[in-house]
Amino acid sequence: MAFERVGVVGLGTMGAGIAEVFARAGLRVIGVEADAEALARGRGHLERSTGRAVDRGRLTRERQAEILGRVTLTTSREDLRDADLVIEASPEILRYKVSLFEELDRICKPETVLATNTSSLPVTAIAAATGRPGRVVGMHFFNPAPVMKLVEVVGTVVTAPGVVSGIAELAGRLGKTAVAVGDRAGFVVNRLLLPYLNHAAVLVDQGMAGRDDIDAAMKLGVGLPMGPFTLLDLIGLDTAYEVMGVLFDETRDRRHAPAPLLRELVTAGLLGRKSGRGFYGDEAQEEQRPMSGAVTFDVAGPGSEELAGRLRAAGFKPSDDPGVVLRPTDRPVIEHAVRLQDPSRMVGVHLVGDRVAELAATALTSDAAARAARDLMKVAGLTPVPCKDRAGFVVDALLFPYLNDAVRMYESGYASIDDIDAAMRLGCGYPSGPFEMLESLGLARVRDGLRALYAEHREPSYAPAPLLDQLVTAGLSAFPRG
Ligand code: 3HC
Repeated sequence: MAFERVGVVGLGTMGAGIAEVFARAGLRVIGVEADAEALARGRGHLERSTGRAVDRGRLTRERQAEILGRVTLTTSREDLRDADLVIEASPEILRYKVSLFEELDRICKPETVLATNTSSLPVTAIAAATGRPGRVVGMHFFNPAPVMKLVEVVGTVVTAPGVVSGIAELAGRLGKTAVAVGDRAGFVVNRLLLPYLNHAAVLVDQGMAGRDDIDAAMKLGVGLPMGPFTLLDLIGLDTAYEVMGVLFDETRDRRHAPAPLLRELVTAGLLGRKSGRGFYGDEAQEEQRPMSGAVTFDVAGPGSEELAGRLRAAGFKPSDDPGVVLRPTDRPVIEHAVRLQDPSRMVGVHLVGDRVAELAATALTSDAAARAARDLMKVAGLTPVPCKDRAGFVVDALLFPYLNDAVRMYESGYASIDDIDAAMRLGCGYPSGPFEMLESLGLARVRDGLRALYAEHREPSYAPAPLLDQLVTAGLSAFPRG
């Protein structure tokens, strides 16, 4: 399959990014928008994105001009008639996409491959609306398209032989890695990523922890490139809401019901970066709070030495009459708190990596003790993440169900371990894929953490995936590969 002329329909953030990727790889691009105003916005995206690369010294002015010169902008879809491939990046409304593909099918030459960049809508339904279902696929890029290295190539039961591999080869020419998948809601990445982002919104809504604290925990503690709320703002809250709706319709899993907070923000027009405000964008200057006077503390329970050592190194010694009792733990601390003479002084401390300390406040913890714990973590060089005293605290509660979902996805036969790992690394910039992460955290630790989450929430999908459970029972520490 020879692809030299490519049409891109829709030049919003994703469409413009996709057009840039093709033009950078030397292909001619026809960019189509509905009207002159939208076209001007699309041109603006292209100029800003390539201009930023020039400013950073990654692109010369000549090369920028060459790239932009390969893109022809038009408001007439008829200009797509000779394209070898047309990829659509329009709003996630199935009705709209179906009628667009009917039109593209009429306009384009019979050999043209028609691709959708849909995040989660059924490619099969779009293909079936055309007279060439065998030449319709999903070609799913990740935001920001010029940066993220993954393309999911979605084939359907009616895709003609050679089309998926042809598009995967083209992705390679664009400098991307293709992962070929079947047509299921969310494909690999969104099926695993979006429920985690949605869950983060639920945790904020429930007052489990704050927006900034959750973002800090996932970025600094787990090493993800962005916290969930920064990422939701990048993706667009409307897109996230729509993807969750599609996932829920397919799975009927309660966890996939879009978080009410997402609906609220979307309805208010707070869509994230594209509208200037979403979870972020309206920050009052954060007040710098002075340290809360003399802080006295004790560290109790197994694993105390590390934390006490850090505090000692910062010049703080345990006291016999502590204002706060810090208890290192990865489980809720309420049962230890009630054994203290003054339970209001206990705060659970869960170290995540070497930069983050989750601080679990029980229903009895006093504000003074919670504040003292925060201050102590700061002097110990840790980022405090205050949260409620619930199973998994923030990080494990967000991470373990995601890891479990990945195991279930593999068990379902939808994708291989290597493909799932590669998709999450390349599509989301994660430092490691879910199976790599599971193995480095320890399968037993994740299985036991999931059991604790399940016991607390009785959420069926928190129950450890059978494969995970079996590997732990068999004493294995790695997944079968190859
Ligand atoms: N457009 C073009 N280039 C961009 C860009 C943009 N919007 N944003 C960043 N870049 C480039 C920068 O120019 C820079 O390039 P250089 O190294 O050649 O100079 C590089 O990316 C790194 O940028 P920064 O140093 O400014 O910022 P970071 O190091 O923080 O990286 C990031 C930014 C690449 C966005 C990184 O934070 C990341 O990987 N985040 C995760 C993004 C993610 O998960 N995307 C997938 C979302 S899911 C999705 O899209 C599917 C959909 O269906 C919902």
